[in-house]
Amino acid sequence: MTLWSGRLGGGLDDEMAAFTSSLAFDRQLWHADLEGSRAHVSGLRAAGLVSDDEAHALVAAIDEVAGELEDDAFVFLASDEDIHTAVERRVTELIGPTGAKLHTGRSRNDQVATDLRLWTRRAIALLVDAVLDLATTLHESADRAGDAYLPGYTHLQRAQPVLLSHHLRAHSWALLRDAERLFDADVRVDSSPLGAGALAGSSLPLDPAVAARELGFSRTFHNSLDAVSDRDFVAELLFCTALCGVHLSRMGEELVLWTSAEFGFCELDDRFTTGSSMLPQKKNPDAAELARGKAGRLIGNLTGLLATLKGLPLAYNRDLQEDKEPLFDSVAQLRGALLALRGCYATASYKTAAMAIAADDDDAVAVDLAEWLVVRGTPFRESHHLVGGLVSEAHERGVRLRDVVALADGFGDEALSLFEPGSAVRRRTTPGGAGPVPGAHQRESLATALDVARARASALAGRTASA
Ligand code: ARG
Repeated sequence: MTLWSGRLGGGLDDEMAAFTSSLAFDRQLWHADLEGSRAHVSGLRAAGLVSDDEAHALVAAIDEVAGELEDDAFVFLASDEDIHTAVERRVTELIGPTGAKLHTGRSRNDQVATDLRLWTRRAIALLVDAVLDLATTLHESADRAGDAYLPGYTHLQRAQPVLLSHHLRAHSWALLRDAERLFDADVRVDSSPLGAGALAGSSLPLDPAVAARELGFSRTFHNSLDAVSDRDFVAELLFCTALCGVHLSRMGEELVLWTSAEFGFCELDDRFTTGSSMLPQKKNPDAAELARGKAGRLIGNLTGLLATLKGLPLAYNRDLQEDKEPLFDSVAQLRGALLALRGCYATASYKTAAMAIAADDDDAVAVDLAEWLVVRGTPFRESHHLVGGLVSEAHERGVRLRDVVALADGFGDEALSLFEPGSAVRRRTTPGGAGPVPGAHQRESLATALDVARARASALAGRTASA
């Protein structure tokens, strides 16, 4: 029997039931669904729609259902269309007519929107933790990197040397922005739609603020139509996961490059690599590759949901059931990628000698030579041209740039000292630059920013835990 058998006779066509059911994936909302139901019982009691005894019986039945679900002992029936109908059916089985009062003044439309917001708030807290863990791991690896340096690239061509710590911290800053975006998204999730009913509120004296308070939401809705049809919070979280996934894909690509024989900058710990079923010598960076690959799926989940939402008339439409799978998938996949990459970075060893050899390429000193001339009064465009000529001469003659500089007019031993190993990176002294002097300041600012983000993350985790 369906919940609407008063209006529609007979059962559902089997194919129709299979096509429309969401139970297979919305089961994971059970915890949120029971929380929402407990809060709704408080609302019903505050409105005098159930007695104290009835409220106790309802909460006891909800707790029993929680135990069954927790122990995997809950028996789902073929007629349970989704987790909401399954729970209500079971509560009614347990306590009869009192159970039948649970859905008073409530619709699955405000119920599912509430459940999904509760689930999303937890997901945000989990993701923020995983993002900050990875950002912290990179920050700690940067500390261990000391004064190691490697070539910095533009166009994947060697450009100027940078400290390895500077390079690793670049990824931390991107992750910190991801965490900030998650905090920001959380602000808009933090609103309770419970009490909006099917779309228009209720004729019963229910106050949405009662349930909102109990669920730990800071506010409730101003417009019931908006409350039941708003899935902006899902789209926003999917954007946050897609962009963070894009960051991870860049890190994954870099690990793939760095661990190749061609670069030889890094070796991953065995636990974070796989072998080949055929080639005995292989050590493959699969976790890094998958972190790179998952970005496609995360972007797909975002664009898929936006396409679903586009053009939907107010208010609830069944299309909205399509919000859950991309949301659950993106959160799980991103979290998996964050944890795997964290393991890769925490255990990676960097081949700093190979990095230094690549970075001490004479050509990387070209801009320092041009700036050396600038300090001595040559306009930069002129010195750029002049040094460019020396580089091209060195390439033509197949000799090192320093050998050409040694013979060129206007330079001398002082200019030649620029070619000393590591000199180019030590000379990057401007704020935010790649050398050790700004690097020390950056270390402090990143440590502070991570502490601030951690404090915000624990406030978030504390709030969802107590909700
Ligand atoms: N399973 C549905 C969903 O996920 C629940 C809401 C159904 N509401 C309705 N009026 N059919 O969106």
